[in-house]
Amino acid sequence: MATMKTWNLKSRPVGAPTPDNWELAEDAIPVAGDGEYVAETLWLSIDPYMRGRMNDAKSYAQPVPIGGRMEGGTVGRVIESKTPDVPVGSHVLYSGGWSTHWKATAKGTQIVDENVVPLSAYVGMMGMPGMTAWAGLHNIGKPVAGETLVVAAATGPVGTMVGQIAKAKGLRVVGIAGGAEKCAFAVDELGFDACLDRNDPDMTAKLKEAVPNGIDIYWENVGGPIFQAVWPLMNPFSRMPVCGVISFYNATQAPTGRDWGPQIFRDILTKRILVRGFIVWDYQEQYSQFVNEFVPMIQEGRINVREDVSQGIESAPQSLIDVLNGDNFGKKVIKVA
Ligand SMILES: NC(=O)c1ccc[n+]([C@@H]2O[C@H](COP(=O)([O-])OP(=O)(O)OC[C@H]3O[C@@H](n4cnc5c(N)ncnc54)[C@H](OP(=O)(O)O)[C@@H]3O)[C@@H](O)[C@H]2O)c1
Repeated sequence: MATMKTWNLKSRPVGAPTPDNWELAEDAIPVAGDGEYVAETLWLSIDPYMRGRMNDAKSYAQPVPIGGRMEGGTVGRVIESKTPDVPVGSHVLYSGGWSTHWKATAKGTQIVDENVVPLSAYVGMMGMPGMTAWAGLHNIGKPVAGETLVVAAATGPVGTMVGQIAKAKGLRVVGIAGGAEKCAFAVDELGFDACLDRNDPDMTAKLKEAVPNGIDIYWENVGGPIFQAVWPLMNPFSRMPVCGVISFYNATQAPTGRDWGPQIFRDILTKRILVRGFIVWDYQEQYSQFVNEFVPMIQEGRINVREDVSQGIESAPQSLIDVLNGDNFGKKVIKVA
């Protein structure tokens, strides 16, 4: 009997997840019913939002139930089909989860073409992270040539693309990343104007030097001490798309120390700063506009995302732990089959 492997959530983490929060199950590969297809997973995307799905907390999306399959974006090859919309042999993008196989209907399934971009890019540049960067900048950041943009997690997929889109639009781009190697990559390979190591004790002073005209767009990926270094440098009428706050994802209690609330509200008022949170699919109706603009940029080499590839479905838990620790270098993907 041909079998598939699936990671299910075994327990909810308190603080940082550990490998025993998941359990690997082995079951028979499902059989397609009428209107269904079965795909084998080629690529599984590992993304920070998965940490939130492990909590039993009210959020913009439902948590993964205990015993349920971990959620995740996948690209696969169809191996059996009883729907004419998804033929055997086609490549498909779907939220198939942490598994070697999945069964689904055509609804929510997108046929993808490896001749347009490599298959793994459909969960990276051409997928959720790419759309996040494009939609958040287009709708909230509203970059203008000559302005200054700062982005942390600068060598991850979202930060990489935010910075490259901003460079293409003529902005000064300053990245913040974990370590000298990531920073060298941001400047030398991605073309950022500067990049600061978030572990450098002088990061706050160096950031001030790196943005002589202040900050017009702060793309918020992380929160915490980086936000505190950035906030005093925000210009009048600056914009802050709040995309993520990864430094809080494993937090079990509120931070101690200075209460930033009064200063933040005062500055929002006096500097008329726009602070706007968003979830990528708020802009779903703009997906085809994103594809039309992004495909040429990718094909011309103006958007490039480094991939950090792990092998095999077994590597999924450690891959997510690595992303949450900053131990990934580029878009974390797993080559499953
Ligand atoms: N709103 C949306 O719809 C949406 C969609 C996609 C992603 N996001 C968010 O966007 C952010 C970036 O996502 P991504 O997929 O591009 O992730 P990523 O950059 O591949 O991985 C996360 C990175 O965050 C940094 N990091 C981890 N812990 C940190 C801490 N305590 N302080 C500062 N930085 C820390 C690390 O980079 P360094 O070690 O280099 O600093 C790590 O590599 C995340 O917050 C994610 O949740 C939001």
